[in-house]
Amino acid sequence: MRTIILAIESSCDDTSASVIADGEILSNCVANQEIHRLYGGVVPEVASRAHQANIIPVVDRALREAGVDKAELSAVAFTRGPGLIGSLIVGVSFAKGLAMSLGIPLVEVHHMQAHVLAHFAEAPRPDFPFLCLTVSGGHTQIVVVRDFLEMEVIGSTIDDAAGEAFDKTGKLLGLDYPAGPHIDRLARQGTARFEFPEPQIPDLDFSFSGLKTSILYFLKKELKKDPDFIKDNLADICASVQDRIVSILMKKLRLAVEQTDIREVAIAGGVSANSGLRNALESTGRELGWRTYIPAFEYCTDNAAMIAVTAYHKYLRKEFAPLDIRPVARWEM
Ligand code: KG4
Ligand code: ZN
Repeated sequence: MRTIILAIESSCDDTSASVIADGEILSNCVANQEIHRLYGGVVPEVASRAHQANIIPVVDRALREAGVDKAELSAVAFTRGPGLIGSLIVGVSFAKGLAMSLGIPLVEVHHMQAHVLAHFAEAPRPDFPFLCLTVSGGHTQIVVVRDFLEMEVIGSTIDDAAGEAFDKTGKLLGLDYPAGPHIDRLARQGTARFEFPEPQIPDLDFSFSGLKTSILYFLKKELKKDPDFIKDNLADICASVQDRIVSILMKKLRLAVEQTDIREVAIAGGVSANSGLRNALESTGRELGWRTYIPAFEYCTDNAAMIAVTAYHKYLRKEFAPLDIRPVARWEM
């Protein structure tokens, strides 16, 4: 009999469902919540209500695309955290109800562990141990991955996440939320000719809040001289911002490789969709003899396939969750 798991991801503003059979992803469906663009950021209450509306259609689609009937499911998996509590509650409650009605086990998944394991959704898959730079809207971490469920965070941000640095800077530039993809697109047409300072943070930790402040002051100063400064230089500003964020990330990643002597190097999370970061990882990897791993776009940003992969490995170890489990907004890895 096949082991078939339905996985749900609802930690932030995307509702996603995926079906995995014996470790192979059969479907990965995502309903994006466009509505947050109007507010310039994710509004938790709005996100929660949208998950409520989206979850059944998304699950239905994931099962249909996989060609799986819910009676065939071996388990239901869900993101327990970290994330927005009102968003998580929708996914957790749905998963519990379905697991109870089908009489099958529940599997809880840590969202950041899942971002790392997105690398096992399809080939090429890294060998253990590998390093993973996980960069999302809420987190920035360097992780040593020793096995599927054996991970150690060796560096993380002390303030904003890399995705926040993109989104907050983009907001200053008048770009829609989330600004990361817009900055990425505009940066390709520009030249990184503006120099933003590099934070001096010890060890493998990161800081991005100073960058945002320095960009704010830079824009204020330039706009005083020329009110059209942003409009006339948008692509170059985006290229400069992206360049600095990528250089901060790559500097620490190089240091992590030196310190651990692990040359299998992966990136994950929403910001790993960034073309500047993808190019920098590939060229640094070529230069320094690393084997590099970049997920396909659909596995970079939030998706349930990564939850499904993680759940599959927990299922094999019979790591099941009780039916009274609760979501957690903050959760150390
Ligand atoms: O992993 P993710 O989908 O959700 C979280 O768990 O946070 O990451 C979302 C973040 C947002 O900050 C978004 O701006 C950023 O990923 N992002 C990008 C790109 N695509 C998404 N940042 C830079 N360049 C991109 N192409
Ligand atoms: Zn995420």
